Amino acid sequence: MLGQLPLITDKNVLIGSSNADDAGVYRISDDIAVVLTTDFFTPIVDDPYWFGSIAAANALSDVYAMGGKPLVALNIAMFPNQSEFFPSLKRIMQGGIDKMTEAEVSIIGGHTIRDKEPKYGFAVMGVIHPDNILDNSKAKAGDALILTKKIGTGIISTGVKAGLCSEAVIEEFTISMSSLNRKASELMLETGVSTATDITGFGLIGHLHEVLSASKCRARIFSSRVPFFEDAIRLVDMNKVPGGTIANSKSFSSFVSWGKEVSDTEKILLNDAQTSGGLLIFVPVDRKDRLISALRGEGVLAAHIGDVIDEGKKDAIKIFVER
Ligand code: CO
Ligand code: CO
Repeated sequence: MLGQLPLITDKNVLIGSSNADDAGVYRISDDIAVVLTTDFFTPIVDDPYWFGSIAAANALSDVYAMGGKPLVALNIAMFPNQSEFFPSLKRIMQGGIDKMTEAEVSIIGGHTIRDKEPKYGFAVMGVIHPDNILDNSKAKAGDALILTKKIGTGIISTGVKAGLCSEAVIEEFTISMSSLNRKASELMLETGVSTATDITGFGLIGHLHEVLSASKCRARIFSSRVPFFEDAIRLVDMNKVPGGTIANSKSFSSFVSWGKEVSDTEKILLNDAQTSGGLLIFVPVDRKDRLISALRGEGVLAAHIGDVIDEGKKDAIKIFVER
């Protein structure tokens, strides 16, 4: 759909839609650019408060992935015009407010319309130095790939809807999705990295592919090193796989070479559509250990799942997956 947007001629548009980047970036002056993004969706968990919290963490994530600092946000809400829904809407908004407060982002307005199915999210504005934008074109051969949250939220959410997950699993996945990528972003900026993206609807393979395409690189990842929610493995084995995840598997298959040892379950998980997933950080190998220990020191998961292997290849296969 982005294909029909007119060609951008304004030189101050530093990042537009051409490389499937996390957010748009517009230069205001030599020292300052604004980062803009929006995201909203239907309830992913039953509890309205946590839905609001997750929607806020998710909307901020693209700014963190670009290396920006989010400053202000606008509420976006769609909800049924029935008075019995109003208490839930209040809880949804409170979840969003509390998460934005935690992120030190001010909500300065928004817009609400009536809709049969509730939807909630934000438009977010952040700032960044024009020279420090972590866009998708900056991955380099030799970069280590560091992932900061577990994979499998799409599959878990399907399992939750089918009543197949325990309270403990629901809590773990809710906490993961509502966790800000802020610390991970701050620590990668302190360390100095090539680039980063956040893992959302296209799954780990899809978002890795976006960066590799823009950077004209290939990568090798190891499925055994990718942190999965344990319950997601069980659910895939039971064939509880959401449509979006199956669609991802199909649309990215030509970019992937699967090693013989990689299981069908792992292939599905690596394509699972995530909500408010972690950052995938591309860090020069000599800074990898420093970044990993900084992240773990702050209680952030840091899994070295693979590496960028080369540049400049025209070959369609961009991702080699080994066990
Ligand atoms: Co993103
Ligand atoms: Co987004």
